[in-house]
Amino acid sequence: MIKHHTDYSLLPHNTFGIDVKAAHFVEFSSVEDIKNIAGKLGDTRHLVIGGGSNLLFMSDFDGIILHSAIKGIEVVAEDDDSLLVRAGSGINWDEFVAYTVEQGWQGLENLSAIPGEVGASAVQNVGAYGVEAGDLIQSVECVSLSDGSGRVFTKEECRFAYRHSIFKAEEKGKHIVAYVTYRLNKKGKFVLTYGNLKEQCEALGGVNAANIRRAVCETRAAKLPDPAEIGSAGSFFMNPVVEASVAERLKSDYPSMPTYPAPGGIKLSAGWLIDQCGWKQRSSETVGVYSKQALVVVNLGGATGKDVIEFARQIQASVKEKFGVEIFPEVNVIE
Ligand code: EPU
Repeated sequence: MIKHHTDYSLLPHNTFGIDVKAAHFVEFSSVEDIKNIAGKLGDTRHLVIGGGSNLLFMSDFDGIILHSAIKGIEVVAEDDDSLLVRAGSGINWDEFVAYTVEQGWQGLENLSAIPGEVGASAVQNVGAYGVEAGDLIQSVECVSLSDGSGRVFTKEECRFAYRHSIFKAEEKGKHIVAYVTYRLNKKGKFVLTYGNLKEQCEALGGVNAANIRRAVCETRAAKLPDPAEIGSAGSFFMNPVVEASVAERLKSDYPSMPTYPAPGGIKLSAGWLIDQCGWKQRSSETVGVYSKQALVVVNLGGATGKDVIEFARQIQASVKEKFGVEIFPEVNVIE
């Protein structure tokens, strides 16, 4: 069923809590619905959104916002070790993760309590605590917005990288994600490399998917704001990857600086860099950084998209000045 609203408030659809409207808001709940919509968009400006947890609206959206309400979780194949689980793009991400953990399936537990929806997990390649969605995605079923044709992208075709996929590159804006299929495990293959996740699980009674989920939920609650209470889009910036020589130079000046090996160089912590520049003590009238994680830019109340971008530019400039490192937003800025 297609639901169409006009002059529609986007306040409940962006976790930053930016008070803007869309000229049209269209919600679809099946592949057939997408096919019906696809042929009719013409030249009208449009944007597909998920849970709105990674968006920053700069102004009212003078076009069509498309939102998936496709639900359903189904096991489509199974063997002794693993199973393929197909989920509708409009399912709340954490409800999906909770369901898989309750079934005793393993793989997504480290990705607990991330705001957003299943469709965006594939676009954004969400990641946390040593796991990325792309590590477990088997395939992504899409419908073309230009002609309504279906296409299945295999994991390789999705070209997942840190907070990146083909849906943010050459296929950007061309498709709607209808379903994502995950390969989950039946036998323990847990990732416990982040922080003291292992010790947290042991304190909870042992390493298993349910305890990893509990530990991750506790860690996130302690470090990240609850979007229901404080407007934000989670990490505002991506962690920068620099050449090894740059990391070495910085490490000799700042021995306590966290560094992590990464494809293409050394990953630094944008949160640490921002924190070192003193941003936890600074704010504008409407925008600040979160007291427990400087990577998270927060809406202190009534912020506009322009307020947020202006504040973020100051952060970028100060990190560049102090460390000579450029940091870039992870958040999708919608002009
Ligand atoms: N740090 C500080 N001060 C701060 C924030 C961080 O010194 O204000 C230091 C921490 O002590 C730690 C390091 O920086 O040594 C890294 O911090 P943290 O472990 O919190 O992780 P992060 O790199 O800042 C990334 C993801 C998060 C994800 C965590 C855990 C990105 C952009 N962010 O943050 O993802 O939850 O790792 O895996 O990669 C998100 O994308 O919205 C998100 C929250």
